[in-house]
Amino acid sequence: MSKTILITGASSGIGRATAKLFAENGWNVAATMRSPEEEKELKELNNLKLYKLDVTKKEDLQSIISKVEKDFSSIDVLFNNAGYGAVGAFEKSSEEEVLQQFRVNLFGVMDLTREFIPYFRNKGEGMIINTSSVVGRFTIPLYSLYCSSKWALEGFTEALEFELRQFNIKVKMIEPAAIKTDFHGRSLKVFENDSVKGYEKMEKNILSGMKKRNEKAPGPEVVAETVFKAATDGKYKLRYPTGKGASAVLFARKILPTSWFNKILLKQQS
Ligand SMILES: NC(=O)c1ccc[n+]([C@@H]2O[C@H](COP(=O)([O-])OP(=O)(O)OC[C@H]3O[C@@H](n4cnc5c(N)ncnc54)[C@H](OP(=O)(O)O)[C@@H]3O)[C@@H](O)[C@H]2O)c1
Repeated sequence: MSKTILITGASSGIGRATAKLFAENGWNVAATMRSPEEEKELKELNNLKLYKLDVTKKEDLQSIISKVEKDFSSIDVLFNNAGYGAVGAFEKSSEEEVLQQFRVNLFGVMDLTREFIPYFRNKGEGMIINTSSVVGRFTIPLYSLYCSSKWALEGFTEALEFELRQFNIKVKMIEPAAIKTDFHGRSLKVFENDSVKGYEKMEKNILSGMKKRNEKAPGPEVVAETVFKAATDGKYKLRYPTGKGASAVLFARKILPTSWFNKILLKQQS
């Protein structure tokens, strides 16, 4: 019998590429998104169904398992992928911008995971794959909110792996480097607060540098392949760096003192 994966944020980028790859490989795919009524291409795929799910809406999260079970009878893998970047100098951010970044990138993951743990325990097996980032293990200027949401996600995922292994539930993390998606377009929310001055040069260097790097980055199919590997390798393995230079930069982060690492990183950003 075919296995089933549930994906959040399947309307674009990594989530969309992953939905396509799993469907092509004979999996059932529950492709969840905020506006399924706008989706044209995915709904044409065999064994893929669209569901409405906003990761910040408790009522969506609480009803999703039973909806998917009706169509596919069971779910084997939860892929928490939805996310966006709230960026800019922290001094410019509002409390609401901070909360929203954490609602989507962290609390949404926690809330959906809370629905799935009893479900997987009852089934006797399951897998949770969270989408972190290489910046879940180091930082970039102007990305303090995004980085802290991914650092928190790393801590959450690592601790959860300890707890759920005994129940035959595998917990994994994908750590992409720069990937060419809508992330650096519509998914990047730059703080607009013109009353705070002094960050203009940094904003010009860092934000335009990130955009340029993203243009040259590989597409989301690279990450989809890594998610597929994580879902099928049968291993209790926690971290899967993916994308150009991801393993190398994380290795450098591990062996270099933070001050050296950050000096090299800053040179590359400007
Ligand atoms: N691209 C990169 O360079 C990169 C690198 C490392 C990690 N990542 C991570 O990869 C994940 C996917 O990003 P991407 O690059 O594929 O960007 P993307 O193409 O912009 O996709 C982001 C997805 O998240 C969804 N989303 C945003 N807020 C949501 C909410 N409240 N509820 C449900 N879905 C929501 C978006 O849905 P809508 O269509 O409704 O807006 C969209 O489907 C994110 O977690 C991101 O942090 C990306």
